[in-house]
Amino acid sequence: MCGIVGYVGNGDVVSVLFRGLTNLEYRGYDSAGMALQDQGEIKIYKTLGKLINLKNELEQKKPEIKHPTSGIGHIRWATHGSPSLVNAHPHTCSCGRLVVVHNGIIENYKELRAELISKGCNFRSQTDTETIAHLVADEYAKAKDLEMAVRNSVKKLQGAYAICVMHKDVPDLIVGARKHAPMLVGVGDGENFIASDTPAIIEYTKRTIYLEDNEIAVITKDSVKVTDIEGNIVTKKIEMLPWEPVALSKLGYKHFMLKEIHEQPDVIRNVLNGKLYDIDAPIALNEVKLDRDGLKKLNKIQIIACGTSLHAALVGKYLIEDFAGISVDVEASSEYIYRKTTTDSSTLVIGVSQSGETADTITAIKQARAKNSHVLIITNRPDSNMARLADSLIPVNAGIEVSVAATKSYTAQLISFYLLAIHLAEIKGSLDNSYLKNIKHELIQLPTKIEEVLSNTSEIQECARKFSSYKNFIYIARGVNLATAYEGALKLKEISYINATGYAAGELKHGPIAMLDETMPVLSILIPGGITYEKVLSNSEEAKARNAKLIALTSSTDINIDALFDIVLRIPQVSEILSPAITCVPLQLLAYYIAEFLGKDVDQPRNLAKSVTVE
Ligand code: G6P
Repeated sequence: MCGIVGYVGNGDVVSVLFRGLTNLEYRGYDSAGMALQDQGEIKIYKTLGKLINLKNELEQKKPEIKHPTSGIGHIRWATHGSPSLVNAHPHTCSCGRLVVVHNGIIENYKELRAELISKGCNFRSQTDTETIAHLVADEYAKAKDLEMAVRNSVKKLQGAYAICVMHKDVPDLIVGARKHAPMLVGVGDGENFIASDTPAIIEYTKRTIYLEDNEIAVITKDSVKVTDIEGNIVTKKIEMLPWEPVALSKLGYKHFMLKEIHEQPDVIRNVLNGKLYDIDAPIALNEVKLDRDGLKKLNKIQIIACGTSLHAALVGKYLIEDFAGISVDVEASSEYIYRKTTTDSSTLVIGVSQSGETADTITAIKQARAKNSHVLIITNRPDSNMARLADSLIPVNAGIEVSVAATKSYTAQLISFYLLAIHLAEIKGSLDNSYLKNIKHELIQLPTKIEEVLSNTSEIQECARKFSSYKNFIYIARGVNLATAYEGALKLKEISYINATGYAAGELKHGPIAMLDETMPVLSILIPGGITYEKVLSNSEEAKARNAKLIALTSSTDINIDALFDIVLRIPQVSEILSPAITCVPLQLLAYYIAEFLGKDVDQPRNLAKSVTVE
């Protein structure tokens, strides 16, 4: 979604802002802009579409850009008002002396707008953000102090915001404020940064100050001041970012998605590191802060998530119920928050999110906290808002994920659920020791098996070539891989815009079978040795009888499979219960290669955002 970067310093302002926006690009956006303080003037540049357009615009306007010493930049994902130049940020007050960029949604903007119009403000866009520009300008006229004007203004705002404000009359000073939307300050030497997310600043500094809700930061090139909403100084800790800038490079891969798919073996090793080191030792999951007695008595878990994380949650449910016998509900955060739930103080509520910023999940977690539940967060962003709400926090250590379509963060979430489910089973004594040892042994082997899948993708590429022209797919599975079918289909939808549905194989005959013919391929996930193999096989036969083209994703070596299916994608031998951590990989690759053949924008699919900060 939207992204903000601000900079004050002696560096090349345009290039710092542009690099910052480029590193936020993965979040998804439809227009971009920046405002520069340049020799006593505020100069604004905006373009529609990708950042390359802004780059060209800045190139074209080079003669008029003299020596900027500070600036704010923004990428916008339209919420209020269409993606258009007039709606793109930065927005200004009527006279153009004050500029603002904003992430979030101002809920009372209509009332404020009406009031400001009655005072003579001249509105040009349909955005809620423009209201902030006029409001702060109005307050500035009274207070004659930008920080005070921002403070007085944010007191009047309802909703979510991270804002950066500059004024022509106060050169080289940026005021930032936040509520329910992330914002951080990057501390440099003789230069300072402000941004909505760490990738925007990581190329320049690792020293970061995270702002909390209702805090206001004032940055100049030599100073950073943080105050609360009443103006009291807040002493903030400078934290060191754990990531290297290289995380934002494709390292020779054509797309970030492909690079991130290939990182999965190492990601799994990272997640297991220090937690599972010996199959005879219990899982070391000290992150779970409930005491052993509390965990032993636990009989209700609710997992809340969105999108791909919701699919990881479904696998988590299966594992926890299977290993530990604890009843688990899984629900999309957007549904959970608008109904009367049975969450209470004896419920363990698990929030799953790669970004840790998904608005629906944050609201759900806040609701659960209000009911005194213990909240466990599984996230790839231990520095996120969601992580800050956690009683227990399991960071999944997948490293920064740039591609909008989640891949390695999903696998990392799955592995975290394996560890959690085994941990619960060990505390409850619900699993036989030799079974536990086998599972742990297999978990340790997983990265090598995934490396095997990644080392030979020719069958998957061939399958992608053969099937890239189809318009509809059904992915079927049963049991623990049903979530894999959902996730595989979601990956295909997200990046190739092909209609794909994940379906419980046994439900095929209760409806979807009516759609089957030679135009609708069916992809079946078949893992022998478990309880679902034969059943999925006969469901595939049913599809074959309706002339559907069949693709198998299987660890079976049975040659009869080759006779039944048009294409067989083979993975290494794996037990059914652990297979979701491998079966997801060929499906990610299949979606990737199909999208690539179709020439789609793999890393930044249309309409999608990496971090969905609006409900
Ligand atoms: C967006 C992303 C998805 C992600 C979903 C949930 O839609 O494009 O990849 O699965 O949000 O995000 P979260 O960060 O909470 O996992």
